[in-house]
Amino acid sequence: MGRHCLLLRLVFLSVVSAASAYADFTADEFIYNGFFGSDLSLDNQALVSDGLLKLTDGVSSKGHAFYTFPLNFSSPEISNTSSSVPSFSTTFVFAIVSYYQGFSTDGLAFVLSSSKNLSSGFEDSQYLGLVDSLPSSTGNKESNHHLLAIEFDTIQNPELEDIDDNHIGIDVNSPISINSHTAGYYASDGTFYKLSLAGGEPMQVWVDYDSKHTILNITIAHYSLSSTKPNRPLISITYDLSSVLPNTSSAYAGFSSACGPINTRHYILGWSFNLSGEAAALNYSALSLNTIRQELAQQVRLPRDHSLSKKTILLCAILLPTLGIAMIISATIVKAHMDRLSESRTAEIEWDREYVPPSFTYKDLLAATGGFEDKMLLGRGGFGSVFRGVLRHSKKAIAIKRVAPESKQGMKEFVAEIVILGHLRHRNLVQLLGYCRHKQQLLLVYDYMPNTSLDYHLHTQQPNTTNLSWSQRFHIIRGIASGLFYLHEDWEQVVIHRDIKTSNVLLDSEMNARLGDFGLARSHDHGADAHTTRVAGTWGYIAPELARLGKATKATDVFAFGVLMMEVTSARRPIWVDSANGEPLALADWVLAAWQGGSITDAVDPRLDTYVEEEVDLVLKLGLLCSHPSPEARPCMRLVMQYLQRDTPLPADLQPDTLLSICVSHDDDEHPMSCPATAITDLSKGR
Ligand SMILES: *[C@@H]1O[C@H](CO)[C@@H](O)[C@H](O)[C@H]1NC(C)=O
Ligand SMILES: *[C@@H]1O[C@H](CO)[C@@H](O)[C@H](O)[C@H]1NC(C)=O
Ligand SMILES: *[C@@H]1O[C@H](CO)[C@@H](O)[C@H](O)[C@H]1NC(C)=O
Ligand SMILES: *[C@@H]1O[C@H](CO)[C@@H](O)[C@H](O)[C@H]1NC(C)=O
Ligand SMILES: *[C@@H]1O[C@H](CO)[C@@H](O)[C@H](O)[C@H]1NC(C)=O
Ligand SMILES: *[C@@H]1O[C@H](CO)[C@@H](O)[C@H](O)[C@H]1NC(C)=O
Ligand SMILES: *[C@@H]1O[C@H](CO)[C@@H](O)[C@H](O)[C@H]1NC(C)=O
Repeated sequence: MGRHCLLLRLVFLSVVSAASAYADFTADEFIYNGFFGSDLSLDNQALVSDGLLKLTDGVSSKGHAFYTFPLNFSSPEISNTSSSVPSFSTTFVFAIVSYYQGFSTDGLAFVLSSSKNLSSGFEDSQYLGLVDSLPSSTGNKESNHHLLAIEFDTIQNPELEDIDDNHIGIDVNSPISINSHTAGYYASDGTFYKLSLAGGEPMQVWVDYDSKHTILNITIAHYSLSSTKPNRPLISITYDLSSVLPNTSSAYAGFSSACGPINTRHYILGWSFNLSGEAAALNYSALSLNTIRQELAQQVRLPRDHSLSKKTILLCAILLPTLGIAMIISATIVKAHMDRLSESRTAEIEWDREYVPPSFTYKDLLAATGGFEDKMLLGRGGFGSVFRGVLRHSKKAIAIKRVAPESKQGMKEFVAEIVILGHLRHRNLVQLLGYCRHKQQLLLVYDYMPNTSLDYHLHTQQPNTTNLSWSQRFHIIRGIASGLFYLHEDWEQVVIHRDIKTSNVLLDSEMNARLGDFGLARSHDHGADAHTTRVAGTWGYIAPELARLGKATKATDVFAFGVLMMEVTSARRPIWVDSANGEPLALADWVLAAWQGGSITDAVDPRLDTYVEEEVDLVLKLGLLCSHPSPEARPCMRLVMQYLQRDTPLPADLQPDTLLSICVSHDDDEHPMSCPATAITDLSKGR
């Protein structure tokens, strides 16, 4: 008996799932328990994969997805109402998954439209792909554009009169909402609970239109196995949709979405629509949540301290688009191929507009530094001076870099630094906390590094003693390698540091290395060709091909890192003048000479009493390999990490003679740095 039941149950289940796993359609109702490529009209980046409808995929992407067939608004049993748009009910589950937890651009919308072709709606992401511009004051009444959109907006655009950066709004033929509400739901006891649209969790939305009373209700809740529709809608308005969609014989339902400068994916997981009754509930276990869970697990968490993070991000990504500079920022951070176009515009960003809120006020910084007193001066660099300070309230120690203001170049470096640094998080990078603009001054605020720079520790000590032990030095080298690896290969865009040197390596209170000074850094898409307009860097660390062609690449960073590894080990500058003959001497040549002389460890800092010979040997040889004159011969940072962790042995044929024999000039600098899975292939390629 029991067995019989089970069998029946199985048969029943398979029948049900065959019917519901895909979608059920009639002219006026359909249900997608997951998407599998049927009956949707998609454009731009919208696509169906893994059971998900993905509307956007990363920075500056957009997409629309419409149910292919017009809604059958004209069937007789539903058309006899006071509104020519009949009642309808729809529910869907969406998720907004951003690279940064809780921050996303821009949002998505459920759309009823007279046309499936919204392809003109792509100019600016704040319009969510709905329209290409705000309607003019003379009105859009004559336009063919008939549109009802329920927007789920994660950005506050003042010119669109948005109420906040986490709201749901009803838009009629315009991205300016006729009604909106902070995202959330009312519990049965009437308490309002806020929901974070950009939080990444799937949310379920219900849109119900009662044609008889012309009432439009919007409801939203967390989506989970146990979630039910809240009784009280979030928004309930009286609005006759027949004014929006006068021709109901061609009305389409779908979604529109646009992603601005913060890498965000907009997903629809399931969707049901009904003209003849309440939209059917979605089947929780049929919707595919795995992809989204995986992506959420990889999200970058920003520090909770909102005084810094939120505003930095806001600056970089949220307010700029509202000022109409979204294109410039996305071009700068993201689109290497647009680098050229934006080059001139970046320098001319209209910082004069005072809308951008600084994350620190000048008053804060004045108080923190005692009015930029001389005794707070930590140093001066090519781009300005650096001050020490203590924030008044939090008592947090900070370093403030005052950027030399006049030059356009300085402005450009500043923009690059904020945009890039504001997005990078790694334990071996100096953290940018925020910034401030005062008159012509630009001030960048960082974590204060109490142990100053590596350069200081290596080169300004007594001849006979050093307080940097070998194990500290090895730890520092591995830390820098890890930070550089993150910049080159681990972050979403490739960042070329371009000025790796010991004075740009700062040491925190635990003597961990932190790479700083990204003023010269510029990011590139992975795989895209790096290009630059001028040589930047510091003598002794500049790779030969960089000096010759002025093109910074990952390989030129690796070159500088190779020099730095040898410098840390030997405590000698990259270039010095030989006292015997007055000739300049390069560190690499000197280390190579020691190796040829029989013992490479002779090059170690004589002040080090004890050190691990194998480690010194490894670091010096790897330093030589990294600072190889030929860029193809240099390992990528992934490989450097493997060598340093001793996961991969140095190539057996790495000998002083082989290093010398390839000291020939290569004009083939277009050669991209490859990083295959195994060490051996990479090196054999270089040989
Ligand atoms: C719309 O509904 C009417 C009446 O139910 C039906 O005759 C007609 O074929 C439907 N149109 C479409 C496109 O399904
Ligand atoms: C249509 O609506 C009108 C007024 O609302 C009503 O008088 C009429 O009986 C309705 N017809 C049908 C077929 O329901
Ligand atoms: C969509 O509209 C744009 C302009 O609004 C037009 O250029 C394009 O050809 C249209 N596409 C289709 C498929 O109709
Ligand atoms: C809309 O919400 C109001 C207020 O809660 C409710 O009375 C009404 O029945 C709802 N209408 C629909 C179509 O859901
Ligand atoms: C309404 O839409 C139908 C189908 O697309 C079209 O044939 C008709 O001309 C449209 N009528 C108006 C007034 O736009
Ligand atoms: C539409 O509503 C009718 C009536 O309540 C119901 O029988 C049907 O299952 C619903 N269909 C969908 C796809 O929601
Ligand atoms: C829900 O989906 C699961 C997995 O596809 C399926 O096994 C189950 O039968 C579905 N339930 C209903 C009520 O359709």
